[in-house]
Amino acid sequence: MHISPDDSLLTRIVDELAERGWSQQDIFLPEALTRELALECCKRAAEGELAPAAVGRGPAQEVREGIRGDHIQWLEPGQAEPCDRYLGLMDRLRQALNRGLFLGLEDFESHFALYPPGALYRRHVDRFRDDDRRMVSAVIYLNDACWQPDDGGQLRMFFKDGVEHDVQPIGGCLVVFLSGEMPHEVLPARRDRLSLTGWFRRRGNEPFEF
Ligand code: OGA
Ligand code: MN
Repeated sequence: MHISPDDSLLTRIVDELAERGWSQQDIFLPEALTRELALECCKRAAEGELAPAAVGRGPAQEVREGIRGDHIQWLEPGQAEPCDRYLGLMDRLRQALNRGLFLGLEDFESHFALYPPGALYRRHVDRFRDDDRRMVSAVIYLNDACWQPDDGGQLRMFFKDGVEHDVQPIGGCLVVFLSGEMPHEVLPARRDRLSLTGWFRRRGNEPFEF
């Protein structure tokens, strides 16, 4: 027995990713799991486990709030039951992506992210210059359903034809896109903005660390 999403939803995501490079599913995560993950994220934040996210890699890594202002904690399996259920779901999505797109995705890395009021993440792509293992980005929002457009915090995606699309960060919504090809940004929010962000990765050589 699987918990939702059912296989047809996973197939839709894979098909949309193949056709246009992204997919948005407003009702992806069950409500109860969304709530439990939000609580877990808030608990970790209250216990001081989330740290300001850095930009760049290796020795060039630094915290620059003007570019990226979220606080994050990387997930490890076996720490909390709701997180493990989330990781299980994402593994089913990974397998569906491999069956449909032959991407050879081998692992998934993810972190909680909390954007305090005013925090943003300027336009970027989710791939490092010296590390092309990240293939597909997956963001799931953990905010309550009362989130209003006025609260800000939209994910803005920039398509090749110049069109932009904004996603409201409402709890349970999933957005996936090709990591190396979709420039995007996070607009500042007026409330704490919670999410789980992750990347499906293919095998690659560990980049050379100085
Ligand atoms: C990221 C990112 C988008 C979002 O963490 O790289 O772009 O909507 N997040 O939280
Ligand atoms: Mn990103």
